[in-house]
Amino acid sequence: KRRAEEADVAEPRNKLARPALSLPTDPALYSGPFPFYRRPSELGCFSLDAQRQYHGDAHALRYYSPPPTYGQGPKFDLRDGYPDRYQPRDEEVREGLDHLLRWLLDHRGQLEGGPGWLAGAIVTWRGHLTKLLTTPYEQQEGWQLAASRFQGTLYLSEVETPAARAQRLARPPLLRELMYMGYKFEQYMCADKPESSPDPSGDVNTNVAFCSVLRSRLGNHPLLFSGEVDCTDPQAPSTQPPTCYVELKTAKEMHRPGHWRSFYRHKLLKWWAQSFLLGVPNVVAGFRNPEGFICSLKTFPTMEMFEYVRNDRDGWNPSVCMNFCAAFLSFAQNTVVQDDPRLVHLFSWEPGSPVTVSKHQDAPYAFLPTWYVEAMTQ
Ligand code: A3P
Ligand code: MG
Ligand code: MG
Repeated sequence: KRRAEEADVAEPRNKLARPALSLPTDPALYSGPFPFYRRPSELGCFSLDAQRQYHGDAHALRYYSPPPTYGQGPKFDLRDGYPDRYQPRDEEVREGLDHLLRWLLDHRGQLEGGPGWLAGAIVTWRGHLTKLLTTPYEQQEGWQLAASRFQGTLYLSEVETPAARAQRLARPPLLRELMYMGYKFEQYMCADKPESSPDPSGDVNTNVAFCSVLRSRLGNHPLLFSGEVDCTDPQAPSTQPPTCYVELKTAKEMHRPGHWRSFYRHKLLKWWAQSFLLGVPNVVAGFRNPEGFICSLKTFPTMEMFEYVRNDRDGWNPSVCMNFCAAFLSFAQNTVVQDDPRLVHLFSWEPGSPVTVSKHQDAPYAFLPTWYVEAMTQ
């Protein structure tokens, strides 16, 4: 047998070669130069309302409105309103790519990039790409991605792993409250209109979302993806999305150098991956004390995050993240050969192992809805 047919590593292949059977994730294998990543440009947006209904507009976009920098500094009580004014999204509802597909259906005639651009593209959520970027460094949580090819386009949709489902169903009360607190911080920092101020008296409803839809390219993989955006800064140097967008995050207040080191190694990697993909230039962090109050804020420019770990032997490297993602996309493109919306290749990964693939027809893994397939076939 020829070497290329036996290799279990994805690599450029000729037409006769069979797809690889698995993909390794060791960081050492992906430390080359930073690959090409096209500056993400916004193609459009949509909003989800308090009932999680889709609207093809920006009504859910909120406006960055930080507290005045003079005087005392913030004292945001993140536990205020919990649980009485919390309306959490129903996590049992499996939305898959549905909202993004709805947008795509409505705008497929107006896509830039020329005829056939969509047929060569990968369509997915930004959050799925974030998980791919952090995979070489992830030691806790695995993932599963379902992939289907339809009219040339490769669609990637995450599947909740059995372990993740078990964890979600057994989520301890303190973790539930911590989730609420992340959204509560957004309410203290955002206004509904550019000229108004935040109103922390209302409900925290996590059904509401503003999503940006972007075009980019990683290496030779054209990408169309959507991601939730926390707010836009009316005073940003450029009003052009996505450069006017701001990502909000909370973290534990830190008092020792060791806490900061660990924060740079783990949290900052996730923050960087999420914001870099979408082209969000700044992440504004609120640090909470043990009583659940935010008493200080710090802005982390996305493009400066790597500096915190550049000289750390146990740090992360943006090139490794992006090279691995590019390798996974090639692996998926080479594996999913048949064009069939009911056929799913399920890519599965657990820390310490390579990515593996299994093949499934129809339920339960098929994720492209009939309404989408039929409308696209007209
Ligand atoms: P934090 O930003 O403080 O983590 P995002 O930051 O992506 O805009 O998400 C907003 C909030 O949703 C998070 O606040 C956190 O409370 C919650 N959240 C997001 N992803 C989560 C996850 N994987 N597990 C638990 N909570 C999550
Ligand atoms: Mg968000
Ligand atoms: Mg956020």
